[in-house]
Amino acid sequence: MRVFGLTGGIASGKSTVARLLAERGLPMVDADQLAREAVAPGSLALEQIVGAFGEGVLAADGSLDRKAVAARVFSDAGQRKLLNSIVHPRVAELSRERFAEHAARGDQLIGYEVPLLFENGLDAVFRPVVLVALKPEQQQQRLMARDGLDQEAAQARLAAQWPLDRKLAGADFVLWNEGSLAELQAAVEELIPRLRAFSVDGA
Ligand SMILES: Nc1ncnc2c1ncn2[C@@H]1O[C@H](COP(=O)(O)OP(=O)(O)O)[C@@H](O)[C@H]1O
Ligand SMILES: [Mg+2]
Repeated sequence: MRVFGLTGGIASGKSTVARLLAERGLPMVDADQLAREAVAPGSLALEQIVGAFGEGVLAADGSLDRKAVAARVFSDAGQRKLLNSIVHPRVAELSRERFAEHAARGDQLIGYEVPLLFENGLDAVFRPVVLVALKPEQQQQRLMARDGLDQEAAQARLAAQWPLDRKLAGADFVLWNEGSLAELQAAVEELIPRLRAFSVDGA
């Protein structure tokens, strides 16, 4: 069994690509989804987060107020590290469980959608790395439209991630998403056999 990585900047089209791959029969695991499961009410990770950050990060219903936490860690690297040290090991554990479930069903190739794959040093773990890419101006427009952000807020989110060039250098495959959805779909269809044939040593 092989697990490839699917990544890209915010609003680059990762989830769109993941859906297209899943529709074409590739099992996909979503790190964002696992991160939500990791901190579900009753979880050890949520207990640890409240211990570290206080009750103020809980919503009225006792679930984690992700926006409140994001605001706390956004501009504070130390706090971000602390949060990651609680959440990441649990996400890794959940991901291994999910991969094992797919492997038990006989799946040979599994995709793992990880927004901050490069930023978190996972590009050596999940190969090949598939990068969804588009020019920054277009990315900003899609981000503003999808999340209802103004220019300043969108730029702040983009600036918190690695620039595209740095990611392009580390990618095994690049899916350019500057055109229509139909074009993206065609690129995804072309990619699948190449993913299946990929080997790390190029053999
Ligand atoms: N080729 C495309 N043409 C037009 N809109 C697109 C295209 N690809 C993605 N989008 C839109 O751009 C936004 C970001 O895509 P999404 O898949 O949510 O990105 P990510 O998961 O990387 O944050 C969404 O609103 C999505 O519908
Ligand atoms: Mg997404």
